[in-house]
Amino acid sequence: MRGLLICLEGGEGAGKSTAMTVIQQTLESAGRQSISTREPGGTPAAEQIRELLLSPATGDLDPITELLLMFAARRENVQQVIQPALEAGIDVICDRFTDASHAYQGGGRQLGAEPVDQLASIVHPGLQPDLVVLLDVPVEVGLNRIRQREDGPDRFESDQGAFLHRVREAYLQRAQAHPDSFVVIDATQSVEQVAACIRNALHERLLT
Ligand SMILES: Nc1ncnc2c1ncn2[C@@H]1O[C@H](COP(=O)(O)OP(=O)(O)OP(=O)(O)O)[C@@H](O)[C@H]1O
Ligand SMILES: [Mg+2]
Repeated sequence: MRGLLICLEGGEGAGKSTAMTVIQQTLESAGRQSISTREPGGTPAAEQIRELLLSPATGDLDPITELLLMFAARRENVQQVIQPALEAGIDVICDRFTDASHAYQGGGRQLGAEPVDQLASIVHPGLQPDLVVLLDVPVEVGLNRIRQREDGPDRFESDQGAFLHRVREAYLQRAQAHPDSFVVIDATQSVEQVAACIRNALHERLLT
């Protein structure tokens, strides 16, 4: 049996990394084997692309360049990590996947859905998440949570103005358009409440 692909999505500081542990533990309790990965990243080459994409030293990138780099990293992660695990019957929990490209480049950078869908059909044809867990928080709440990090804001976190608001809107629109694959969680709740929502969603949607 093929493994499940579960993706964590949400804006900056929404609680994705915190939620990762909850999903890992829930799958383990259900007797399932899982691995975790993140995007952009997940392989040595993809992590180098991540560094380029997130480093403030990179400066502005053309939005299409940014999208292509995201999908270049994604292809490495899909080929080397995600597909082999799924085929071996191991579940994969991915901290961001193609819905993040829809939100950040499609919505945030205003490229729209079409180039994202086109690249998705080349980079991971036939591969869709079994469940997307969208952690939704107002932009300012997420940014406040990560403000105290000592390494400073990355290229996306430091983007001024309406960018991160468009990202949130695009995520919510994707969720509304794809209710069968998305579960939206109010991530302004406490860590424990968010964890309970995630466990419920996994049991209702995947582990029945
Ligand atoms: N529900 C919550 N309520 C309050 N604080 C939270 C909650 N969830 C996570 N946090 C805290 O907010 C900070 C950001 O959480 P986390 O790193 O999980 O977010 P993230 O979505 O992975 O962030 P990034 O976008 O930077 O990857 C952490 O300090 C975490 O402990
Ligand atoms: Mg994180």
